[in-house]
Amino acid sequence: MKKVEIHPEAVERVKKFTINDTQLGFGKYMSPIMIQALYEDGQWQRFDLLPYGPIQLDPCSKVLHYGQEIFEGMKVFRHPDESIHMFRPEMNARRFNQSARRMAMPEVPEDLFLEACEVICAYSKNLVPRRLGESLYLRPFMIATEVGMGIKPANQFLFMVVASPSGSYFSGDAVKVYIERDDIRCAPGGIGFAKTGGNYAASLNSYAKTIKLGCDQTMWLDSVEHQYIEEMSGMNFFAIIDGKVVTPALTDTILDGVTRRSIIDIAIAEKLPVEQRRLSIDEVIKGIQNETCTEAFLCGTAAVVAPVASLMDKDGSVYKLKDGQGKIGMQLREKLIAIQAGRAEAPEGWLHPVRNLDF
Ligand code: COI
Repeated sequence: MKKVEIHPEAVERVKKFTINDTQLGFGKYMSPIMIQALYEDGQWQRFDLLPYGPIQLDPCSKVLHYGQEIFEGMKVFRHPDESIHMFRPEMNARRFNQSARRMAMPEVPEDLFLEACEVICAYSKNLVPRRLGESLYLRPFMIATEVGMGIKPANQFLFMVVASPSGSYFSGDAVKVYIERDDIRCAPGGIGFAKTGGNYAASLNSYAKTIKLGCDQTMWLDSVEHQYIEEMSGMNFFAIIDGKVVTPALTDTILDGVTRRSIIDIAIAEKLPVEQRRLSIDEVIKGIQNETCTEAFLCGTAAVVAPVASLMDKDGSVYKLKDGQGKIGMQLREKLIAIQAGRAEAPEGWLHPVRNLDF
């Protein structure tokens, strides 16, 4: 495996760095170090741990014109014994390479991806928060840096990992969801399952509408029948229907969320019935009206689990969930947070310990 070259200036920077703020927010502060690796001549070149800072890009770098870009979001936790653990990073490594294949980008070998993530964590160990619900959020990403206007896959790429000590994504209030009936996020055969910037860019126009209408998150429906719930862009969707934990089955238009999978695993372990299937917006609305759909929640790495207060439709109708605070969702959230924070036993392989370095 290639080693990461540790630059002494990076170590000096991180040694001196402190954050004097109890409100970390999400992505507000960055660790003062970053991983950087260049891909050219058909292979990954050196991996470096450098001081965090701006990168130089030629104005004709392909990423700036054609959006050849992918990223991941993953979390790192401090346990009561002060050990540091990455949460299911192998799943992020696999999904990163799945995204890379779809976007005609080179894969980052899983061991190198994990090593790069572990090194930035090991050197950012003093920045991993102690408060429950907080974590060090890692953002590995790759961009096409080849210079040229021709539309063809690039042959030069930059892989980077940055890290942000973060608190919660949402304010804590239950989320108001807007049902998007017109725009679509992606289509079958497209890039919906890939974690690439274009999927998020496609959501922003509708996000602006969602906020204007007093809601917090946009719900995307399938692009063919405009009927089946897919996801929320930054999160997956769950509903409790007839006491069952129901979530849309994965397709190539839905991101395969690590938190989604973890919630399903925890629900099964807690002996809750789980269904992964097509879930129509009509079924959810009718369920809310006749109270068979009692709660709904959103989940994602950044968001963890957030209860849904209500759904708003295009005609202005608002459907309020009977249990807007989400008893079952919160039960699953508590369990997940306890596992991540080392306060409950983790299923085999869920926690990847970060080596403790003296520096
Ligand atoms: C994550 O949850 O890690 C994401 O990438 C989604 C984004 C809304 C922060």
